[in-house]
Amino acid sequence: MKEKVSGMSRGNVIAADAMPYPLDNHAPQAVGYHALLGQLWDGWSVARLKDLFGEPRETMAGLRCWEVGAGVGGQFAVWLAGRVGRDGFVLATDRQVRDIPALANLAVVEHDLTGDREYPGWPGGFDLIHVRLVLQYLPQRRRILSRLADRLAPGGWLLVEDWVTTPAVEMVVSSVSEQDAALYVRVQQALSNVFAEAGTDHSWGGQVYPALLAEDLTTVGTQMCGQVWPAGGPGCRLVAGTIAQARDRLRAAGITVKELDRVGELLTRDDPGFALAGHLMHSTSGCRPPG
Ligand SMILES: C[S@@+](CC[C@H](N)C(=O)[O-])C[C@H]1O[C@@H](n2cnc3c(N)ncnc32)[C@H](O)[C@@H]1O
Repeated sequence: MKEKVSGMSRGNVIAADAMPYPLDNHAPQAVGYHALLGQLWDGWSVARLKDLFGEPRETMAGLRCWEVGAGVGGQFAVWLAGRVGRDGFVLATDRQVRDIPALANLAVVEHDLTGDREYPGWPGGFDLIHVRLVLQYLPQRRRILSRLADRLAPGGWLLVEDWVTTPAVEMVVSSVSEQDAALYVRVQQALSNVFAEAGTDHSWGGQVYPALLAEDLTTVGTQMCGQVWPAGGPGCRLVAGTIAQARDRLRAAGITVKELDRVGELLTRDDPGFALAGHLMHSTSGCRPPG
């Protein structure tokens, strides 16, 4: 399968430290972090594909798909490979590939969206390109979106899923202690700054709809998924994982070790009395006109 994908070769990857995405797939916490992403949003993304293709088991057979920024374990790419079957094909790419199993119909390739290298292609184009929680982090997101849209087959779908992050001051929807709530807001604000300084656009999810129209895609539509994340649940544990991975940068921003430890405790202990308004997922799709 792999040799059919054009524009791909290994060994031409820009050094990770030159990249804006502030997390590291090779960090020890990354495995758990990516598992939580799947727990929170794979079901939602599957429902979005059902909107586009009908019941996936029947209608996705034979599709040629590209899972962009597939993440550690590549669980969504693996799910897609199960749906497209032997006649279909999935390409999973990421800047830092880790633990994505290569299967008969799943090719795994290291590819940096911000590099100069030609983007992967498939003769006739891809029927589905799915990119979730990747573009919001990359300052070149608009240009990348354009290059992805170029890779669609006639009638193919681009599905872009990104957050509009909840402002720090609105995040705590429940806390017994006002002091804990204020501490959380301060840490969350510092975390948002760390990401913004690295190039993240916290409002990007809401900008995708007009961006897909500008790419001349049709049937453009957005659905949103919002949840309250109770302490101890996957949403709060995801935030705790992000804070743990950004610990040094948060320390440099003036958050103390004691404060970081307290916030870690608040987020991970089972306590529905502490809860956050999770970031709103905007899931936007557009279709390359057939013919
Ligand atoms: C938040 S994770 C999302 C993973 C997966 N898409 C999901 O939703 O579960 C962001 C992923 O984008 C990848 N990524 C970041 N910058 C990238 C780049 N320049 N090119 C390709 N992948 C990139 C990261 O390595 C990471 O795996």
